[in-house]
Amino acid sequence: MHAISDLHLPDGQMWNPSAVDLDTLAARWRRVVGDDDIVLMPGDHLGFCEDLDAQMAYVDALPGRKALIAGNHDLQICGSLRRFKALARRYETLTAIGGDAQLMELPDRPYGLVVCGTTGGWPQRMHRSEIRRLRSTLQAATALANGQHPIAAMLHYPPCGAGSPQRSPVCRALAEAGVSMAVYGHVHQPQMWPRLLQGWWGAARYSLVAADAVGFSPAPMAIAGKRRLRVLG
Ligand SMILES: [Fe+2]
Repeated sequence: MHAISDLHLPDGQMWNPSAVDLDTLAARWRRVVGDDDIVLMPGDHLGFCEDLDAQMAYVDALPGRKALIAGNHDLQICGSLRRFKALARRYETLTAIGGDAQLMELPDRPYGLVVCGTTGGWPQRMHRSEIRRLRSTLQAATALANGQHPIAAMLHYPPCGAGSPQRSPVCRALAEAGVSMAVYGHVHQPQMWPRLLQGWWGAARYSLVAADAVGFSPAPMAIAGKRRLRVLG
């Protein structure tokens, strides 16, 4: 299981000056992701260019089953979460999530992975509608997991500012829902990365997976063991 966000297609250069070209990204992706693997993609896939279908088709053609949420740019480019989901739904290997949750099966395992997520916002400035969407995605995930499947949460914005996770409503909500793994992106300033929540907090492992922070290659997140998921870190 891997994760990467903020590809900002078609070439990522606008937001990530260090972005690699699409052929290099695809080659790196193929090196680490197999067709049955799950790839969590917490937002900002799309770039400001006319052909959104070509951008989604590029992601679809890469190996793996990809679970996507919308980033702030995806919402701006598509105009709404509904349109973003409708665009992603046209592609076989893409599962768009936003305020809901999906159970993704793991081949030959007695459990699956419940994936939930929402775009979110900076915790201190989160809009009421985003807090509602966070609650609804976590409720849906808990119901679907039913104590039998681990939960992975995707957020586009970091779940916690420079302060303590204890003071972040996002981290507290994720802990209450029993999330095992949380991935997020959005931040492209390397000087900010050390200040973000990364590593274990409570029972969940938090990871920043913006493409530039993970070297433009999907980052390994977890391995599906025979009986349980082993979250890396
Ligand atoms: Fe973003």
